[in-house]
Amino acid sequence: MTIRKIAQIGHPILRQRAREVTPEELGGAEVQGFIDDLIETMRDANGAGLAAPQVYTPLRICALEVKDNPRYPYKPNIPLTVLVNPVLTPIGDERFDNYEGCLSVPDLRGVVPRFAELRVEALDRDGHRLDFVARGITAGTYQHECDHLDGRLFVDRVEDPSTFTTWKEFARHHEPGFRDRVEAIVARYGS
Ligand code: NI
Repeated sequence: MTIRKIAQIGHPILRQRAREVTPEELGGAEVQGFIDDLIETMRDANGAGLAAPQVYTPLRICALEVKDNPRYPYKPNIPLTVLVNPVLTPIGDERFDNYEGCLSVPDLRGVVPRFAELRVEALDRDGHRLDFVARGITAGTYQHECDHLDGRLFVDRVEDPSTFTTWKEFARHHEPGFRDRVEAIVARYGS
């Protein structure tokens, strides 16, 4: 396994639509090795998720995992999940304000409105169909990662630019209030 370099905002790879993975490709050694690298790179960087375009690979694959994450200590845990060719469908139109950051956007966070509940359809890395509902903070993480597959970064979705903050100023001025909001969201949606 190899820890890969993470593309930074401004690189065109982050702005193109990634393409679907064929069943034949998914079963092959090249894509399976790539998925191992994606997971390893996500864990090395303490990401809550990582999408293939972030490691210079324009395929519709992303990985998510939250396990007592030091970058996002308030995030509910998510078991390791690999999504191939994911499709997200919002359930209802309820949204919440999520304070997001990204491994491809150094030292910046901002408030992004995200759907509170969505249906996630995808293939897992073995080609089996996944179909489940994601809620709350966890639903926000799914939306962030799947946006990468369409060439979108969280900064595109920040509606109020005055919410932009460095990580240091986030910890100092915004994290306590956001933790309270996260608690309320988790209490409501269970994740
Ligand atoms: Ni990101």
